[in-house]
Amino acid sequence: MDRRQISYVKFILEAYDNVAVMSTLDSREAVIQVTIAPGCETMVDGIIQGLAGEIGVMPVEGAPAAGMSGKQAIRMPDKMKQVEIEPKGSLFQMKEKLLYISTIGCQMNVYDANQIAGVLAPMGYTGTDTIESADMVIVNTCTIREKAEQKAFSFLGRLAKIKSANPSLIVAVGGCVAQQEGDAILKRMPHVDLVFGTHAIFRLPEMVRRIESSRCRIVDVRMSDTIEFDAPVDGPLTDGQISAFVTIMRGCDNYCTYCVVPHVRGREASRHPDRILEEIRMRVDRGVREVTLLGQNVNSYGNKEGLCSFSELLARVNGIEDLGRIRFTTSHPKDLSDELIDAFGRLEKLCHHMHLPVQSGDDEILKRMNRRYTRSAYLEKIDRLRAVCPDIAVTSDFIVGFPGETDRQFQATLDLIETVRYDGVFAFMYSDRPNAPATAFSGKIDEPTKKRRLQALLDLQGRITREKHQAMVGQIRRILVEGPGREMESGDADMASSRVQWTGRSSSNHIIHFAVPEAQRDKKELLTGAFADIMIEGAYAHSLRGRLIDGPIMATPGKGETSVAA
Ligand code: 5AD
Ligand code: SF4
Repeated sequence: MDRRQISYVKFILEAYDNVAVMSTLDSREAVIQVTIAPGCETMVDGIIQGLAGEIGVMPVEGAPAAGMSGKQAIRMPDKMKQVEIEPKGSLFQMKEKLLYISTIGCQMNVYDANQIAGVLAPMGYTGTDTIESADMVIVNTCTIREKAEQKAFSFLGRLAKIKSANPSLIVAVGGCVAQQEGDAILKRMPHVDLVFGTHAIFRLPEMVRRIESSRCRIVDVRMSDTIEFDAPVDGPLTDGQISAFVTIMRGCDNYCTYCVVPHVRGREASRHPDRILEEIRMRVDRGVREVTLLGQNVNSYGNKEGLCSFSELLARVNGIEDLGRIRFTTSHPKDLSDELIDAFGRLEKLCHHMHLPVQSGDDEILKRMNRRYTRSAYLEKIDRLRAVCPDIAVTSDFIVGFPGETDRQFQATLDLIETVRYDGVFAFMYSDRPNAPATAFSGKIDEPTKKRRLQALLDLQGRITREKHQAMVGQIRRILVEGPGREMESGDADMASSRVQWTGRSSSNHIIHFAVPEAQRDKKELLTGAFADIMIEGAYAHSLRGRLIDGPIMATPGKGETSVAA
């Protein structure tokens, strides 16, 4: 039995509340141990029967337990029974099917897409880049702003035509729009087979199986306050992928008045640190060197469940051998603790970058956004961060044109940007979202004013970024090399030019392109996933350019970045 079969069987079993998969026995790869709650044997029997028909899973011969045989039935201290089930590899004939996933939205959705691919892989689904060749298309949607939602519906609209040309195609809608709209999507779009919400990913294999066998239409937008399925899923990695996302918590309890997240991602819930570490180790074993820990508000990680604090989690992740770098996002300023700030001085793998969304520079607007911090409290935290870690890069999110925002209040935002001198910002025009309280606020700002304010903000930040990039020229930065740039990807195999572009990121998350000189060509194979020191020689609006001066350096980087004056 291969790994795909094992994880498929484990996956199906783990989806049931009353079954716990204990282990895959090392000595006998083909045997999975499960623990079943008393009274649930018949239910498990049914699952096994289903799997037997599908992939030839068989109970190990000669053992008891309600209809299902187990090699051994061991009394567990908690009165649970342990049985062994033996999948029969030879009967396993899985047709390879192609899966196209379209992901719109944030990093959380990128991570979810990887989970989706991971849970469907054991069913025979492998990724494809062309919709036309796919057996199933999954649209992983976002509803954070109006535009993202429109994008999802316009993509779904286009799929109607593709489905009419290929009626056996399964069309599934997942993510935040699916959670928000539920069966309204099925009613509105007859070509959609499946709508699954943000908490339903681990139930996907079961639902897809039902659709494949009976072509039914399914909606699953059930939500839960706790994380029901916490097992690490080893999703696909692209060739040479050295950076990966790992979700450490989901949902949000903050209820900012403009935000739809608490309504579509549910209550805040944290994953167990052991599962998080296991998942990171799995990624690292497959070549990942950098992880970004994800959550809507990582600063309150573990609080509710009484798990460890976020800083403690970071310290544990920092200890993972062969992991080179740790990033995280997003942090709510009100929850940014001194303990976490101090972690930047303590943990050598923690990147010197903090994304700290402020949204507005005006106290009255912050209050109406329900952000629960003031401008001065925010600035104090930035000062503390910079005191502990002088070269830390700080980035932020902004909303312009929040209901009732006056020119003076917008000026306060510009003034805050000048004061902080961010390394980069994301800025958005306010849009009404379903269930978000600000949708009912008066004083809506007209589109031209919002556009004008957005442009003014971006112009200001553009100038600051250029100045900051210019000041980096002449410095040496240690980067983690992500891979060759376009020149090589486009198949320029003989590399006619003597300088081939490569790309990496500094600890401060600056994108740095660099050339590998002719004489150092022999190092190029070693470069992806290695650390290298780059002398910065030029600055662009969104990136920097430099020259390889030392590398590849395979060891975990030393504390901070090397930086010398021009
Ligand atoms: N309108 C505009 N921008 C929004 N964001 C969240 N909700 C809205 C909205 N209704 C922005 C915030 C947040 C980022 C992810 O999206 O800046 O930090
Ligand atoms: Fe939305 Fe506020 Fe939660 Fe961020 S902290 S996800 S902006 S409610």
